[in-house]
Amino acid sequence: MEFQNVCTWLVAIIATCASSVTVQVDTAVKRQPPGLKSPMKVWWAKELTPDFHIAGRLTERQIKYASEAGFRSILSLFMYETNDGGNFGGEYLPTTAEAWATAHMAGLQYVALIGGNDDWTSIDTIQRFHDVLPALRKPILLHCDRGYTITFVTLMHMANQTRHNSSFEPKIYSHNFYKITAAMGLDFTHDDMKEVVANVTGEPVVEKPPKHNCEPEEWRDFWLAHPISKNWYMGGQVRKCDVKILEQTGFKAIINMRLGVTHNGQPSQEPTALLNVKDEPTTYGNSTTPPRQDLKTLETNKINEHHSSDYISKKSRINYETENPLEFGDDIGYNEDAEEEVVLKTSLKYYHIPIPPNSTFTASMFSQIRDTLIQAGQLGPVMLHCSDGRRVAYFGVLAAAIHEGHDLNWALKRVQELGFEVSPDVQPDVYKMYCESFEQSHSFKNEEL
Ligand SMILES: *[C@@H]1O[C@H](CO)[C@@H](O)[C@H](O)[C@H]1NC(C)=O
Ligand SMILES: *[C@@H]1O[C@H](CO)[C@@H](O)[C@H](O)[C@H]1NC(C)=O
Ligand SMILES: *[C@@H]1O[C@H](CO)[C@@H](O)[C@H](O)[C@H]1NC(C)=O
Ligand SMILES: *[C@@H]1O[C@H](CO)[C@@H](O)[C@H](O)[C@H]1NC(C)=O
Ligand SMILES: *[C@@H]1O[C@H](CO)[C@@H](O)[C@H](O)[C@H]1NC(C)=O
Repeated sequence: MEFQNVCTWLVAIIATCASSVTVQVDTAVKRQPPGLKSPMKVWWAKELTPDFHIAGRLTERQIKYASEAGFRSILSLFMYETNDGGNFGGEYLPTTAEAWATAHMAGLQYVALIGGNDDWTSIDTIQRFHDVLPALRKPILLHCDRGYTITFVTLMHMANQTRHNSSFEPKIYSHNFYKITAAMGLDFTHDDMKEVVANVTGEPVVEKPPKHNCEPEEWRDFWLAHPISKNWYMGGQVRKCDVKILEQTGFKAIINMRLGVTHNGQPSQEPTALLNVKDEPTTYGNSTTPPRQDLKTLETNKINEHHSSDYISKKSRINYETENPLEFGDDIGYNEDAEEEVVLKTSLKYYHIPIPPNSTFTASMFSQIRDTLIQAGQLGPVMLHCSDGRRVAYFGVLAAAIHEGHDLNWALKRVQELGFEVSPDVQPDVYKMYCESFEQSHSFKNEEL
């Protein structure tokens, strides 16, 4: 009797894991990993469609990063007047005139749509968006202050096209709008906004639209994060200025999965993002090539030969960057010690869980870090990061699933919604890790019973 029970259970598990799964995702299109050509530089952009990616208010460095990653224009929903330079954890946020100048230097088109006091939920704003679009080269990085209002306007434009233009893809109806925005951690369920959605789509007001479950609701003060579920967030490399903002936003812990200065006794600094330098996977040199941050190597890895040195700074005499202390880089590469030092000066708890980039993921890797992840998750909002979001997406979704009692299908859906497909054919190692980890967590629960 007992034997038979075990067998039925095993067959069920094998069936779930071996069948080729089709997951239904709540995104407009099948998302790609964030950041176009440079995930290290632009991991925080949220893809709505291949042409439209969402962000918050950008620093000058982020405008240049956007260009280097392959964006061709920037649309700022709001105009920022001369007296309206902003600040993000100590980093200066340019006015519209300054952002325009930086964008042009970087080879990007730049437009700002409405004044800071205009009504962003109005039909008129959606109309202006529609009117300016044909003039912009794609892909476009679309932004407002925290990636909220611009998402509304962009999706409302798409909904209007869906209604009035039969050749428009992807189709956005009311129910898509609410699912997509809930999956992004954005709440547009206020009655006034529901009216606008109904007006644009021509459909009835949706009575009980789905709503995200993010904690804290105001997580968008750190708009760069990608919400996974509840208190779990992920992304790529955070900057010095982000640490303070994370703390102010209510985060309790940072989990860093990048390699430290050494790993298993070997030097192991990962590459750091550098302006006008291609992302290269290696930091250290060999018998034929000097290290990545050696001037000779940097010269050969430049993205654009023709930039003036002003592209780096007024004081620079070369047109590429050699070090990036803002992202905890030193003269070799990314320096994890420097990040830890900054985080430890705040109330945030810091966990370092080094995972080599491009590891083959296994269930035993996860079981070694599982308890630490869950423990961190119990503190409150937690930000997992690596260089570009890939490692932490795989582990973060799995940890959140197990913490919150979700199943394999939930994890496969959520990880694809973040842009990282996991299936028997794509990332089969991660797929296997997921299957085995859910099995283990089931048998774990059964034992406890
Ligand atoms: C909606 O789309 C139609 C067809 O493209 C266009 O003529 C109209 O101006 C759009 N309305 C808004 C509010 O964008
Ligand atoms: C309809 O949509 C197609 C595809 O996006 C676009 O090329 C075309 O310009 C749109 N037509 C109007 C009238 O907006
Ligand atoms: C939709 O909004 C437009 C512009 O504000 C307005 O003229 C129109 O009456 C509204 N339509 C409905 C059905 O509410
Ligand atoms: C990891 O794999 C990707 C794609 O397979 C490759 O582009 C990248 O250079 C690799 N990174 C490292 C550090 O080996
Ligand atoms: C040295 O490093 C470069 C760049 O990473 C690589 O292309 C080359 O194959 C390496 N040479 C040797 C001898 O390992």
